[in-house]
Amino acid sequence: MLNIVIFGPPGSGKGTQSARIAKKYDLRHLSTGDILREEMDKKTSLGKKVSEYIDKGLLVPDDIVLKMLYDYAAGHMDSPGFIFDGFPRTIVQAEALDKLLNKRGIPINIVLSVEVEEQELFKRIMGRGEDSGRSDDSEEIARQRLDVYKEQSMPLIDYYKQQGKIVTIDGMKPVDEVFDRICQAIEAVKAV
Ligand code: AP5
Repeated sequence: MLNIVIFGPPGSGKGTQSARIAKKYDLRHLSTGDILREEMDKKTSLGKKVSEYIDKGLLVPDDIVLKMLYDYAAGHMDSPGFIFDGFPRTIVQAEALDKLLNKRGIPINIVLSVEVEEQELFKRIMGRGEDSGRSDDSEEIARQRLDVYKEQSMPLIDYYKQQGKIVTIDGMKPVDEVFDRICQAIEAVKAV
């Protein structure tokens, strides 16, 4: 079993690379952002609640996201492994994920920390915003998402450094080159 976390600021290419990783390594792609947006599109009561956070560029509260994780995991534990995209985003979420996976003896193998310069992040988010229909792809909300990333998610870098699991990926390169570098890092942990 191979469990991978892909971590990085908004617009760094997590979703783009996760889709490729999932295909190449036959992993289940768990994107909390995608699951939350599906709920918003279906206008469920959960969807209405989470839109209050997403539309402001804030994190959805841990209890809601963790319940989603447990429900999802319960239904997919037969998977050959997971690529966690956009999750965890807080220390509370990281600890909960470790607990869940360690209980089953299938810990996280590697955490890919994708680094992209701020100006490029905005360029990408604004570019996507032209046709994504995403309510959080405006400049003002993207700024807020980035501030939230720095305050609430960046501490995870130290959390996973302490576990010796972080590999830094230069996300400024073209998509194919970023993917090649990611594959090298994955192959290295698979070989251990
Ligand atoms: P989420 O959906 O996870 O969004 P995000 O982290 O803000 O990231 P993005 O989807 O904007 O970017 P990405 O890094 O996936 O890059 P992408 O591949 O799309 O979360 C949205 C919201 O949901 C959060 O703000 C929060 O409210 C909530 N949420 C989600 N998870 C949560 C959690 N765990 N806890 C609490 N709340 C949670 O690429 C972006 C663009 O760049 C695309 O157009 C792409 O084509 C392009 N691109 C990608 N790579 C490259 C490259 N190498 N060169 C040039 N262009 C590139």
